[in-house]
Amino acid sequence: MVTIEYRNAKVRLAEQVYDPAEDSYLLADTALEIVKDGMAVLEIGTGSGFVSAVLKANRDIRLIATEISPLAANCARSNRVDVIRTDMFSGLKAGKQFDVIIFNPPYLPTSEDEKVPGWLNYAFDGGVDGRKDIGPFMEQVADHLQPDGVVLLLISSLTGIDEVISEMEVHNFNAHVIASKKCSFEKLVVVEGRPIK
Ligand SMILES: C[S@@+](CC[C@H](N)C(=O)[O-])C[C@H]1O[C@@H](n2cnc3c(N)ncnc32)[C@H](O)[C@@H]1O
Repeated sequence: MVTIEYRNAKVRLAEQVYDPAEDSYLLADTALEIVKDGMAVLEIGTGSGFVSAVLKANRDIRLIATEISPLAANCARSNRVDVIRTDMFSGLKAGKQFDVIIFNPPYLPTSEDEKVPGWLNYAFDGGVDGRKDIGPFMEQVADHLQPDGVVLLLISSLTGIDEVISEMEVHNFNAHVIASKKCSFEKLVVVEGRPIK
């Protein structure tokens, strides 16, 4: 079994579960700048649990996560992340609101012949434009966020940064890029969204 260590967290990886990559590291580093002790944090699509485990190892927070893949949910549980296996926000306690909600969604534009078999496809398949999950996420996120809360969304230049910011604005959020990293064929960014009061 492969285990990785990063910023005081030890994280076990598993077959058919997204291996933490540059996007995961950028989101974890950025989230550590925003998340403070005492906050309630929700991670959607936790995968191996890497980002949540890094946050828990460095902050005194209440954190829960959701994950659609049963294989990833089990892996994250083995990394001591409290996971609900569900589709996005379904199954979360009604009325519970978080200070910070983070999501590293499947963000790559994906055609039919680029799909990968099994549960791992949920990690990569962002639909034809890479934004398949962004709309549904933005439609629901405000119900689970404190009025002065923060959304952190990891996307790529291939996803369409301006389009994602527009989608967030349509849902009454102020949004802008707060971190970025140039990778080989794309730029990864973290978009911060705050509800307009
Ligand atoms: C790009 S991976 C990121 C994993 C991890 N958060 C990280 O940063 O390393 C996206 C994750 O979201 C999960 N996912 C995709 N769609 C989902 C949905 N509708 N609800 C919950 N999880 C979802 C995938 O199974 C996958 O584990």
